[in-house]
Amino acid sequence: MIVVTGATGNVGSVVVRRLAERGVSARALTRDASRAVMPSGVDVVEGDLTRPESLRPAWDDAESLFLLTTGNEDVAAILESARQAGIEHVVLVSSLLAQTHPDSPIGRGALRGERAVRDSGMSWTILRAWEFSSNAVWWAPSIRDHGTVRATGVDAASPVIDPADIAAVAAAALTERGHEGRIHALTGPAEVTVRERVRILGRVLDRDLVLEEMNAAEALENLKRFMPEEVVEPVIGTDSGEDRGPGVLSTVESVTGAPARTFHQWALDHTGAFR
Ligand SMILES: NC(=O)c1ccc[n+]([C@@H]2O[C@H](COP(=O)([O-])OP(=O)(O)OC[C@H]3O[C@@H](n4cnc5c(N)ncnc54)[C@H](OP(=O)(O)O)[C@@H]3O)[C@@H](O)[C@H]2O)c1
Repeated sequence: MIVVTGATGNVGSVVVRRLAERGVSARALTRDASRAVMPSGVDVVEGDLTRPESLRPAWDDAESLFLLTTGNEDVAAILESARQAGIEHVVLVSSLLAQTHPDSPIGRGALRGERAVRDSGMSWTILRAWEFSSNAVWWAPSIRDHGTVRATGVDAASPVIDPADIAAVAAAALTERGHEGRIHALTGPAEVTVRERVRILGRVLDRDLVLEEMNAAEALENLKRFMPEEVVEPVIGTDSGEDRGPGVLSTVESVTGAPARTFHQWALDHTGAFR
């Protein structure tokens, strides 16, 4: 049995699907089972990662854990609870900022989570993911309402990754040998600017979208709607012209055997979010 956290989200929902397709028993963790729609045969259990004592039912008879956190959790406490219940292997979603921007708040937080995993006493695999393609969903309300995207750093290129590819690598790490003690650094297949992403979205939605460039102060205010204030500034800071991105990495293809999915493919799969 593999426990999948974040099972209703972008990455975890695909991890659950991939495990079900492989015929592997999976248990989806959610805070609200009444809203969780899972493939048949997948166990659903309620629990809250910020309250490790609520996770005990999730660990029953499980041997592996897919762990995706949002930054508010005590990762060491979660892992100690899992280890005591007999879980032996953990696959953690971390951030590539741990590598490219280790002194940023997100980078430091990611390194803290990784340290807890390394110190857990379990065997582990760490997936350091770059910026998700799905962050484009942040633009969905303004695209739906008036066909505009307001963004900063519109010509900065980033090798955004489809969460489905992170899930595919996770499924491999959870079910195949050879990933223990390894850090997989994951990006998408190409550097794509915000301007190009908006153009691609316009094409797949068959709509003329207007891109309005925000200044840094406006962007800061805007991002605070989606992430904690203390982590926003370094994200904005990537617009400084200084290229500290990871470049395009081939890990997804080398682990899964399939090329990493493009932003265009992600957009085609998610038109519903923008209509
Ligand atoms: N966005 C990026 O560019 C990026 C880059 C690198 C790494 N990451 C990592 O990826 C994460 C986001 O992944 P995602 O896009 O797949 O997530 P998502 O779609 O935003 O969904 C969040 C998931 O976390 C679960 N969750 C939230 N709080 C929880 C809690 N207290 N207890 C239990 N479950 C909880 C939710 O489950 P329920 O609501 O069903 O309980 C949901 O399944 C970030 O938090 C970050 O750690 C993101």
